[in-house]
Amino acid sequence: MQSVILGLGAYLVIERLATVGAMFAASILLGRALQPVEQIVGSWRNLVSARGAFLRVRELLAASPPREAGLSLPRPDGRLSVESLTFVPPASSKPILRGVAFGIDPGEVLGVIGPTGAGKSTLARHLVGVYTPSAGAVRLDGSDVSAWARTSLGQHLGYLPQDIELFADTIAANISRFQEGEDQEVILAARMAGVHEMILRLPNGYDTQVGEGGAVLSGGYRQRIGLARAVYGNPSLVVLDEPSSNLDADGDAALTDCIMQLKKSGTTVVIVSHRPSTIGVVDKILVLRDGVAEMFGPRAEIMSRLTRAVPVHAVQGTAS
Ligand SMILES: Nc1ncnc2c1ncn2[C@@H]1O[C@H](COP(=O)(O)OP(=O)(O)OP(=O)(O)O)[C@@H](O)[C@H]1O
Ligand SMILES: [Mg+2]
Repeated sequence: MQSVILGLGAYLVIERLATVGAMFAASILLGRALQPVEQIVGSWRNLVSARGAFLRVRELLAASPPREAGLSLPRPDGRLSVESLTFVPPASSKPILRGVAFGIDPGEVLGVIGPTGAGKSTLARHLVGVYTPSAGAVRLDGSDVSAWARTSLGQHLGYLPQDIELFADTIAANISRFQEGEDQEVILAARMAGVHEMILRLPNGYDTQVGEGGAVLSGGYRQRIGLARAVYGNPSLVVLDEPSSNLDADGDAALTDCIMQLKKSGTTVVIVSHRPSTIGVVDKILVLRDGVAEMFGPRAEIMSRLTRAVPVHAVQGTAS
């Protein structure tokens, strides 16, 4: 553009239609006038990618519309029933859970076992309403957890995810889930999880900052503080996903003790675990395999079926 403007100016000067001064003045003015156009051309790549991002966000929001507020219900007793639960993740056609159905009564402890990738964590996320089932339902005292008002449902649930997420704040705030409440409640939850003494030994006790993602704490500490967070506020249903993966013998004993206390207070507990010490305290066992509930029943019955199944596999293994 600069060349064309100067070229045209030079031609007009030669033809004596303009002066040299006018030529330079026109060149500078036109250069300024064209600057916005040049800027748009320069940032064209950004405009295109911004448009692409906007379309993707709109698509994503359309695919997961906000939940309706739902009705707040009184504190449930903890009767959990799962009805032919099927889950197909978005952007996939292979179901992760297929027709899983079982039920447990208040105060019962259910152990969920199964090989890696069987869908145990996916089931746990459905029990606490993080995932919405593709078909079937998870009911707590008869009402569907995915339709329950989020804020009131959260008070009645305790959840320890497999990859515990702590937030950059104090230990007390993490245990109380950032809710204003009695300090006594925080200490009660910590005592229940068997971490009270452990927290007191830290430099700032309950006011210790855990750092981004709980980085200041070791994996075992994080897991035990996650357990305290799960039992905070006397929930009706507690779901623990591999709560003992980072625990030593002491931690394991504290966990077993915590489950016994929950059971005594009538809280329903679902625990994903393979540890014999944890399985020892459960009332019922659910065996998941490839997203299907392979076995469900009282612990003694399932354990004897499982141990009976082992020699059969071993014989088949040697035969083939
Ligand atoms: N939101 C999702 N989208 C797509 N696939 C998913 C999603 N969630 C889970 N999966 C897949 O579902 C399968 C089951 O995962 P899940 O985490 O439930 O297994 P798991 O039984 O908990 O295994 P582990 O014992 O290793 O914890 C895996 O193959 C996983 O990749
Ligand atoms: Mg898992």
